[in-house]
Order: sequence, then C-alpha cells, then structure tokens
Amino acid sequence: MKKIIVTGAGGYVGIPTCQSLLAKNYQVIALDRYFFGQDKLASINQHPHLTILKDDIRYCSPDIFKGVHAVIDLAGLSNDASAEINPALTVSINYKGSERFAREAKKSGVERYIYASSASVYGAGSKEALKETDPLAPQTEYAKSKVAIEHVLTEIKDDSFSPTMLRNATIFGLAPRMRFDLAINIMTMRAWKERVVYIMGGGEQWRPFVHVNDVVSALVLILESPKSKVHGEIFNVGSSELNYQIKQLAQFVVDVIPNVKIHTIPDDPDKRTYNVSFDKIQRVLDYKTKVHVHEGIVEIKQALEKGILNPDDPTCYTLQWYKSLLTWDSRIKELSYNGTIV
Ligand SMILES: NC(=O)c1ccc[n+]([C@@H]2O[C@H](COP(=O)([O-])OP(=O)(O)OC[C@H]3O[C@@H](n4cnc5c(N)ncnc54)[C@H](O)[C@@H]3O)[C@@H](O)[C@H]2O)c1
Repeated sequence: MKKIIVTGAGGYVGIPTCQSLLAKNYQVIALDRYFFGQDKLASINQHPHLTILKDDIRYCSPDIFKGVHAVIDLAGLSNDASAEINPALTVSINYKGSERFAREAKKSGVERYIYASSASVYGAGSKEALKETDPLAPQTEYAKSKVAIEHVLTEIKDDSFSPTMLRNATIFGLAPRMRFDLAINIMTMRAWKERVVYIMGGGEQWRPFVHVNDVVSALVLILESPKSKVHGEIFNVGSSELNYQIKQLAQFVVDVIPNVKIHTIPDDPDKRTYNVSFDKIQRVLDYKTKVHVHEGIVEIKQALEKGILNPDDPTCYTLQWYKSLLTWDSRIKELSYNGTIV
C-alpha cells in the first residue's frame, strides 16, 4: 500500500483528496495545522489507513517522510486577500515553508511531488487562451509565492524526484471545509440567503473555473500517471468550456435560484482577468472535467436548504477567519498569566 502525505489535508481541496485516496486504497498522512478545525475530517477520521498529523510545513520533522511515495502539497494561505494580511507570514508559509517541505521530501527519498499552484500566476491583462509556456504576470503576494515554488520544484527535479505543478482554475462546489470566499460559492450563498448577487469589477473579467472533485481527479490522475508524462511538468487544471466572465456566473446562479437581484459594482481591487487553455492536460493525460458550474450551484443550494451547510459558519470565510486567528493570537499572548487565561 503506497503511503502519501497530503499537506493542507484539512482544507477545501484537502479533505476530498484524502477521501479519494483512501477510497483508492492508499495509506494517507493528513498533515495540516487544522486552522479551520479538525472536526471537518469527521467523514474519514476513523479510517484505518488515515493518520492525522497536526503539524506545520515550516517546522515538522523530516522523519514524517519515512516510507512515503508521494506528497500532495495543498498547504498554505490559500487566497490573495489572506496572503496580503501579513506579507512576512505569507513568505514564511507559502514560500519558505513550501520550499523547505519540498527539499526535505526530496532528501528523504520521496519520488513524486504534486504541488497546487494557481492559474492566478498569469495575472491581469490577457483574454487569450493562456498556455503553460506563456509569460507569467503574478499580481499579488499569493501568486508570486506560487511562481516561486514552481521555480524551486523545477530547479530541484532529478531522476529520483519528480515534481508536477498544477495551475488550478478557481475552484467551486461543495466540500466539508466549505469556502464562501470563492466566486461561484459566494454568489450562490448570497443569492440563497440574501436574494442578491453582487458582480464585482463590472463583470467583464474572464476567469477559469473547475469543480473541487475535478481538481481531486486531476491530483490522483497525476499521482497514478507514468513518470515520463508528468516529470517536471506544469498543467493548467480546468476546462476550456469553464472559462467564464463573472457576469455569466451571476446568470447561472439566477437560473438556479430565482427572484434574486443582480447588483453590478463597477470597481474591484482584484484586477485579474485571464482566459486559460487546458489543452495540455487533456492531450497528455486524457483529462476531462466532469462537473459543470450549474451542478456546483445546485449542490450548494441543496446543502443550504437541508441545513448541511451553515452560511454563517465563520470558518467558511478564509480571510476573516485568518484575521480572527491573528487577533486571538495576540490577545491570548497579552492575557496569558502562568500559562492560563482565566
Ligand atoms: N480553492 C481554489 O480556488 C484554489 C485555486 C487555485 C489554487 N489553489 C491552491 O490549492 C491549495 C488548497 O487550497 P484550498 O482551497 O483547499 O485552501 P484551504 O485554505 O481550504 O486549505 C489550505 C490548508 O492549509 C493549511 N495550512 C496553512 N498553513 C499551514 C502550515 N504552515 N502548515 C500546515 N498546514 C497549513 C490550512 O489549515 C488549510 O487547511 C492551496 O495551495 C491553494 O493556494 C486553490
């Protein structure tokens, strides 16, 4: 049974990734700081092939790599806004931490390394079908850290260490650690809860989208593909049919959830617009996405209706949650007396 470390295992992509690997009979080490709560792992935490490792990619012992075949690296501050709160923290986790983790994995004999990069590395200003070989224009600390780790992994690849980098489109869909800071998810939640959809930045900007389960399929496909096809490769992950302008998404939401007002807000600090080509992953790995935006909206709406998903759960709002953690951190330090608060 092959042993796989998933970092960021308690996250939006991480939990479905662990679920899928366990279903495929891998032994999984689920490494995470569990910033969003370990309870989110309830569906798998009793699984005999799962080891939950509450640890940090910046500090963990290299002993964890013993007998590990592959790492799927999903850990880090996972959006632009969270990565802007404290740029030094972003460097320490998303850049230095990820670099350290990859180098330690290589030193310990891990053969495969799959890294979750992002299509945001393409930055602003182009509507063309951007290929993996096109120039990058990262606009934010987050996107810059993704580019930096792509460079590190490309530099350290060798005959016994095969990294593969996935430039994921913006993800949507239902998952145990839900994210309401992602465009389709938040539009759906607001339409359902507040009967309103906000289109930020005028709505003309292009973005590629991909369902969370299709990202998991891409991760597993790469893990199981022959080394010759994935060694040192970068793949855009998504589908050419899922490149949309933000205003089109609003229409999809309104089609599923009627009687909703659309408000267009002309300005948005997020200037990214990019339209990505997904030909390479389809051609090289025969990868096709399965889930359409419409289905993602329906599953979120149904989960809200059934009460499975709480729109007020603060852990679903990545930026605000990290800000709260930082505030608590400084308050607790301030109030601590003889190791306790009260
Ligand atoms: N969701 C998207 O739309 C999207 C798109 C492109 C790329 N990505 C990338 O995919 C990866 C997973 O994203 P996600 O949506 O699951 O994000 P997420 O925020 O839900 O998960 C990230 C996880 O990393 C953990 N983490 C943070 N710092 C850590 C540290 N120092 N040590 C150990 N664990 C740490 C967090 O606790 C969290 O569970 C990220 O690298 C993200 O940048 C996501």
